[in-house]
Amino acid sequence: MSKPLRKVVFPVAGLGTRFLPATKVVAKEMLPVLDRPLIQYAVDEAVDAGADTLVFVTNRYKHAIADYFDKAYELEAKLQEKGKDDLLALVQGTLPRHVRAIFVTQPEALGLGHAVLCAKPVVGDEPFGVVLPDDLIWNQGRGALRQMAELAQTEQAGVIAVEEVPHDQTDKYGIVDAEPVNERSARIRHMVEKPKPAEAPSNLAVVGRYVLPGRIFQLLEQTKPGAGGEIQLTDAIEALLTEQGKVLAYRFEGTRFDCGNKAGLVRATMHMAMQDPSLAKVVREVAKSY
Ligand code: G1P
Repeated sequence: MSKPLRKVVFPVAGLGTRFLPATKVVAKEMLPVLDRPLIQYAVDEAVDAGADTLVFVTNRYKHAIADYFDKAYELEAKLQEKGKDDLLALVQGTLPRHVRAIFVTQPEALGLGHAVLCAKPVVGDEPFGVVLPDDLIWNQGRGALRQMAELAQTEQAGVIAVEEVPHDQTDKYGIVDAEPVNERSARIRHMVEKPKPAEAPSNLAVVGRYVLPGRIFQLLEQTKPGAGGEIQLTDAIEALLTEQGKVLAYRFEGTRFDCGNKAGLVRATMHMAMQDPSLAKVVREVAKSY
């Protein structure tokens, strides 16, 4: 893990069934929190962490994400003609100029581990990040992935974001058993994907941010289907742990919103609205009226 983080993988091939019927045509990563789609928050966090190559693992039906980051010639020409420079900057600013977006297709939905493996030809043998856009992480200072990339470099180890979850929800997450190093970091002893509460080694759950060495790809190639019959990233990280002995769990600074479900999307929207004084007023008024 000697090189700095430059590549980040976004697994975005999921169907988003929790948001049907909207997701019949709108990719779930394009659902907005205020005026920005979820994928924009994820991309901004990756760019903040130093990434200049973004790898989107998508499926053959999902073109909206590629369109969103592409140049919008007609719209840009119209805005320019009308002198609407602020709007033009917004439209052109979805991807900074020094950053390139690469799209790879996951031919079959075989699990998160399989989705990440699809990025192997682009990432090669170097450390990379994985960001699951469903997990929106808001922080006033350094983004969560940047905090993790810095730790991965100083500690020369893979770093996984974790957060405590209610005990009865362990079966929704990868769960770690870890030995605390300090207030934020812990050395992972063991990891298990979606254990039942009675079998979970703790309530420390993996959330959607990872910094991993390129070696994980070879381990993913050997990973057999696990929980839910899917090729799990958690299982490959467990193999990495056996092989390299050191993978860190990291409690990031920031607030995470699980935007993979309606309640989380509502929370994230209200939280973001509260950051804007004019919208905060609206949130307060509405809350009061109920
Ligand atoms: C995935 C991972 C799981 C992790 C979760 C975080 O699960 O497999 O380990 O805790 O993301 O959001 P999924 O939510 O895709 O089922």
